[in-house]
Amino acid sequence: MKELLARIKEEALAKIAESDAPDKLNEVRINYLGKKGELTSVLKGMKDVSPEERPKVGQMVNDTREAIETALENARIELERKLREVSMKKEVIDVTLPAKKMQMGHRHPNTIVMEEVERIFVGMGYEVVEGPEVETDYYNFEALNIPADHPAKDEQDTFYVNGDILLRTQTSGTQVHDMEKGKLPIRMIAPGRVFRSDEVDATHSPSFHQIEGLVIDKHITFADLKGTLAEFAREMFGEDTKVRFRPHHFNFTEPSAEADVSCFKCGGSGCRFCKGTGWIEILGCGMVHPNVLRMSKIDPDEYSGFAFGLGLERIALLKYEIDDMRLLYENDVRFLNQF
Ligand code: DAH
Repeated sequence: MKELLARIKEEALAKIAESDAPDKLNEVRINYLGKKGELTSVLKGMKDVSPEERPKVGQMVNDTREAIETALENARIELERKLREVSMKKEVIDVTLPAKKMQMGHRHPNTIVMEEVERIFVGMGYEVVEGPEVETDYYNFEALNIPADHPAKDEQDTFYVNGDILLRTQTSGTQVHDMEKGKLPIRMIAPGRVFRSDEVDATHSPSFHQIEGLVIDKHITFADLKGTLAEFAREMFGEDTKVRFRPHHFNFTEPSAEADVSCFKCGGSGCRFCKGTGWIEILGCGMVHPNVLRMSKIDPDEYSGFAFGLGLERIALLKYEIDDMRLLYENDVRFLNQF
């Protein structure tokens, strides 16, 4: 009996030592201590043991059970510790790894400039309006004092949808739309896309953007136009920026002018940027022609106004020193990421 118990104990302890998973330990428990386990069957054989021997043998069986139970418990603790260690190693977080960077989108240089122009004019009490990109000949030309046979139309030879409908060549038609609403006075700017059948090169594109401006009220003079554009130039290009006006011709304004700003790179002394002249042309402008007012049912004897139109891309190219307009349209993120 003694040998039998010693063998059972030895075997059980060896199996416990071999166990590398909680399942296996459980198996050992069932095989040795369970209802049908080896130690239990020894207990069942106690009836064959002489009464004098029984307490002794009983004690031996208990000792064996205790030894196996202790070994099982120790093995379980050790096994759990090991498993925990493995999983901790697996889940370890390297806090020195650089975090994944979020790729944030941002505004296109055209949009930045457009919002800046809008901010400046809204600050002066202007309203921002929009006009249609597909326009009738009337709004794009006729109502702007450009009759059917006028050579000014040839300059804007463009994309016609049919004989009377075209993709607008200028935002100036928004002036007419706004005047026709019949609400005076008017102080508005109208940014938007325009189209011309220009070949693509560093300074031309068949589609670009303009911002139109229109003010109509009583007693509006050229002095108001000058003051407004001078203030715009200071806010847009810097406090020391000056403006100058050169006589020009536009059908829908009289008198008409082109406006230059003093070069905001060299301050006017002459550089590569302003081609040595100290001035940079930025827009066309003038006093709204009486014919234009009349066609939109505004009495030129009572009201007067000024208008201006600037090229958005031109300003963006100047502001960011971009020397090829095509870069603005290619959507190359290496380019766009710089703004
Ligand atoms: N529409 C003109 C163009 O595309 C620009 C322009 C000039 C707009 C004078 C105006 C203006 O409102 O008064 O060249």
